[in-house]
Amino acid sequence: KSYRVAILGATGAVGAELLELLAEREFPLADLKLLASPRSAGKTLAFKGEELPVVAVAEDSFNHVDLVLASAGGSTSKVWAPKAVEAGAVVIDNSSAFRMDPNVPLVVPEVNPEAAAMHQGIIANPNCTTILMTVAIWPLHQVQPIQRIVVATYQSASGAGARAMEEVKAQAIAILQGETPKTEAFPYPLAFNLFPHNSSLNDVGYCEEEMKMVKETRKIFNAPDLKVTATCVRVPVLRAHSEAINLEFKEPFSVTKVREILANSPGVKLVEDWEANYFPMPIDATGQDPVLVGRIRQDISHPCGLEMWICGDQIRKGAALNAVQIAELLAAKDLIKL
Ligand code: A2P
Repeated sequence: KSYRVAILGATGAVGAELLELLAEREFPLADLKLLASPRSAGKTLAFKGEELPVVAVAEDSFNHVDLVLASAGGSTSKVWAPKAVEAGAVVIDNSSAFRMDPNVPLVVPEVNPEAAAMHQGIIANPNCTTILMTVAIWPLHQVQPIQRIVVATYQSASGAGARAMEEVKAQAIAILQGETPKTEAFPYPLAFNLFPHNSSLNDVGYCEEEMKMVKETRKIFNAPDLKVTATCVRVPVLRAHSEAINLEFKEPFSVTKVREILANSPGVKLVEDWEANYFPMPIDATGQDPVLVGRIRQDISHPCGLEMWICGDQIRKGAALNAVQIAELLAAKDLIKL
């Protein structure tokens, strides 16, 4: 069976990766439609050696489409995803628009593939930092339930899209030339700097990105009472996020056992050379599918605590790859239908 697929947001950073992954993983395509804003109408994008036209999304865009991979931001998804479903398509949405909707499964294929079967047309792809963290800690949670997660993120510019990545490069050049860096995509210069995540703050001082990690992890794990606290920070890395994760279990969890479990977990790659002090780095995670995990150690402040450090490609596993894996999962179970 093959599918008529549309990518909404094809010209963006995640869109580009979706195109690459559909080709690389040989997703069974009967047709591929590239949709973006009117700004991109008339452009073309290469796919398997062919130049495909980019079309401005419109009312009739989803006729004769089985599957939509949407990555054009929350407000665009809110408008177009329901229209796509109405036209008969299943939507895998990369935005935050529907993630917490009780009727929308929030899926990480390594964690809760079974949730995908409940879809009513829309399936949400979680936030990038949440995807990367859940892949790395779910296998441990299966063996010993996690009581509390304390996480700090080091998030790359790619999380804010292609324009933000270009902005950081331009800022670096400007600073090196003694000029004042321009800021548009970000509120502050990111090159040679970092700042707490620029999403909106709630009344108890957490930003939206941090609350996504809290709420989405609970939903994906189906653990509504799981204690999670996060500090999200943007760092001047182009792509691939890093996270310092502290886990608290009910009982001590031996580091040897943790390594053994993670060495055999899907989507995880252990990267630890204690003699060379070599551990996961964003430059090594860039372009890679697995989440790199290392610096696994006993938390010396708590007998049931565990520390670990992870890096994962934000655009790949943190967005496009997870979406394509969901598509593959749906195809395998014949769930690309309403
Ligand atoms: P466009 O390139 O035409 O602006 P990124 O996250 O890398 O910034 O990419 C965002 C993607 O979402 C781009 O493909 C962008 O298209 C698309 N997009 C943004 N706003 C809209 C909109 N109102 N309608 C359709 N696509 C949109």
